[in-house]
Amino acid sequence: MTTLKNCFNIDDLGRLARKRLPVPVTDYVEGGADDEVSLANNISAFSRYQIVPKVLQDISALTTATEVMGCKIPHPFYISATGFSGMMCPTDAELAGVRAAASRRTLYTASTFSNLPLEDIAEASPCNKLFQVYVLNDQALSSKLLERAEKAGYKGLCLTVDTVVGGNRERDARSGLAIPPRLTLKSMFQYMMRPAWTIKYLLSSNSMSLGNFPELPQPSMGDSQAFTQALGTLFKKDLTWDDAKKMIDSWEGPFAIKGIMSVADALKAKEVGATAVILSNHGGRQLDGTPAPIELVEEVRAAVGPDMEIIVDGGIRRGTDIFKAIALGANACSIGRAYVRGLSAGGQEGVEKALDILTSEFERCMILAGCSSLEEIGPQHIRKRIND
Ligand SMILES: Cc1cc2nc3c(=O)[nH]c(=O)nc-3n(C[C@H](O)[C@H](O)[C@H](O)COP(=O)(O)O)c2cc1C
Repeated sequence: MTTLKNCFNIDDLGRLARKRLPVPVTDYVEGGADDEVSLANNISAFSRYQIVPKVLQDISALTTATEVMGCKIPHPFYISATGFSGMMCPTDAELAGVRAAASRRTLYTASTFSNLPLEDIAEASPCNKLFQVYVLNDQALSSKLLERAEKAGYKGLCLTVDTVVGGNRERDARSGLAIPPRLTLKSMFQYMMRPAWTIKYLLSSNSMSLGNFPELPQPSMGDSQAFTQALGTLFKKDLTWDDAKKMIDSWEGPFAIKGIMSVADALKAKEVGATAVILSNHGGRQLDGTPAPIELVEEVRAAVGPDMEIIVDGGIRRGTDIFKAIALGANACSIGRAYVRGLSAGGQEGVEKALDILTSEFERCMILAGCSSLEEIGPQHIRKRIND
């Protein structure tokens, strides 16, 4: 029987997660937009870069710590924002991820669409946290959200700009997924195949609610389609750089713009005063047919200069992927599905397992590449595969 103990890499965690989650929920986590070209390319792009080791280096004292968004982290990766964690872990929802982040002293990003209120997530653990912002049509609701994040002690904001509408995720349409999952006759069989998840889901009182918006109609088993449609209409459609600048000016701490996919927009983010750009195509869940974020790192670094923080996400499944991102010029990576798979496979323990796997893979990669600190990792350690 597969357990967390015999998961040796992130894909093993994914296989275990599949055994635990109903098919529609697995599709929600693993799926992408349209033909899933961006999703596949996010992963395959890493193999177009090769690591060039430097041998006979003294690596007896390894240091991997860094600072990102004003927070010290032990390794150059941390947990990205993922909404509706209650679907993946009905008993603990976001608490599993944030507690795992605390136990591994890394950063946790809470999503605007968390199932638990941002205050509960903040109180649950002492680790540094970022708050991910979706700007909503309702200006008052959006402003209140930022005030609440500041009051709750979130260290930094991360404004997601690639979700003006929801992506076209056809796996969800086919599997009949609704948020929250709805037990229709069609989906009943799939849910019955995962009785442990289904019982936990049915018993969880708040794991499917829109934790940050008690004032909005909360999802219930009966009106999930209406809820999904309503969610799509919440986003502010006329969000511009002026809005981003106003938010940056009114927020005291570090501010990242997530969803940057070009040199021009990275320069614009720098101009409006962002601390960091997060190169991201939302894990291939929004616009299909984009480059992989890893392919942009080198040119964005050259354009923004050495001081602006570059965080990259999308397709990170191995410690070697994180090494490649650093060698190309990123400061850190944020991880989505790599941690969500752990969350689905085993709650807090599963997330810790995912973080531990990436940690040991990254450290081994550094040693084998002959680097004893992050500063030593550079373009000399990377080359593009010939014929690409
Ligand atoms: C299940 C799931 C939910 C997500 N929810 C959000 C969200 O609420 N806000 C956000 O900015 N990004 C969200 N993302 C995108 C992630 O933050 C991240 O950009 C992406 O997962 C990175 O790609 P990877 O999964 O290949 O690591 C979500 C991703 C997944 C897989």
